[in-house]
Amino acid sequence: MVSLSTQLEGIQEQAQRDLGEVKDTRELESWRVTYLGRRGKLTLLLRKLSALALEERRAIGSQANRAKETLEKLLAERQQSFKSSEAARRMAEGHIDVTLPGRASALGRLHPITLMLRDICSTFASMGFDIVEGPEVEWERYNFDLLNIPRDHPARDMWDTLWVDGDENASRRLLRTHTSPMQARIMQGQSPPIRVVVPGKVFRYEAIDATHESQFYQVEGLAVDEGITFADLKGTLYEFARRIFGEERQVRFNCSYFPFVEPGAEMSIDCFVCKGGGCNICKETGWIEIMGAGMVHPRVLEGVGYDPSVYTGFAFGLGPERIAMLKYGIDDIRHFLANDVRFLRQF
Ligand code: FA5
Repeated sequence: MVSLSTQLEGIQEQAQRDLGEVKDTRELESWRVTYLGRRGKLTLLLRKLSALALEERRAIGSQANRAKETLEKLLAERQQSFKSSEAARRMAEGHIDVTLPGRASALGRLHPITLMLRDICSTFASMGFDIVEGPEVEWERYNFDLLNIPRDHPARDMWDTLWVDGDENASRRLLRTHTSPMQARIMQGQSPPIRVVVPGKVFRYEAIDATHESQFYQVEGLAVDEGITFADLKGTLYEFARRIFGEERQVRFNCSYFPFVEPGAEMSIDCFVCKGGGCNICKETGWIEIMGAGMVHPRVLEGVGYDPSVYTGFAFGLGPERIAMLKYGIDDIRHFLANDVRFLRQF
């Protein structure tokens, strides 16, 4: 019978020969399992040592340890050389180009209307106005009745309404058609002096075109105190227009009608496309209306428990989309909701 020592030599020689044939890391791993693994040839042979006499066991034991160390060393060397040749191969193939600049991560940005709303609100805040928000689903009472627009009033047709509840005999809810319902909510909640702006989303059952959306923003303004006049309204809104558009833009007020103000006005800015000459954007008028305004109607003051012989106030409601269009020269309001990043990236 072949002695264990000879068997050991045989295994070691064969292992070294086989290692010479190994071509990649996968084959190297199977070589390791074959010789050094838990059920590998060398391991199984070592288990037989326990049957030997002490002297012989010592001698063969140290021979076996040397063989194991040698094979482990050879294994480590081959692993290292595969590692470096793999890296060299990938370098040569261009997998890693250490001279390439790093990849910049794409950053999001604020929507142009968010920027516009912030701009408008901070302009009014710097003039001493507080900023408050209100509900988008509103009671008919706040959206219409308390604004001097009772149920049968023809002015309700000015705002094509999306109703939430349908029962005409009960109190109904709707998607607010303007931010004006907040006028009554604010006055009910506090006593004068009041100076607030209310940014928020509004909804109308309306045909969409280049200057009309069915969902858009408004910023409502309200100032109530003793002795407030129309001059305060004009002064505040002129100053607002000057800060947002710069000195060179033309501003115009003309008479208008809203049931909750008396007198009522509309503020317009010269058309950004034709500069006042007349084009299809401004419907040949040379002007684009950006807000409605006026002195708070005495009936609205009475409705919330204020004495109109003591207090007066002004209110206004403006459209940030229209203002952004004027400021940045955007010719179609639909761009704001189209989610085209080529458009959005410009802001
Ligand atoms: C109102 O909604 C009144 N609540 C404004 C007001 C407040 C008047 C306080 C007096 C006192 P109007 O419907 O005109 O008014 O809308 C106000 C502004 O919202 C308009 O000047 C315009 O800038 C903008 N706007 C109106 N309809 C649309 C629409 N469909 N799409 C985009 N913006 C609009």
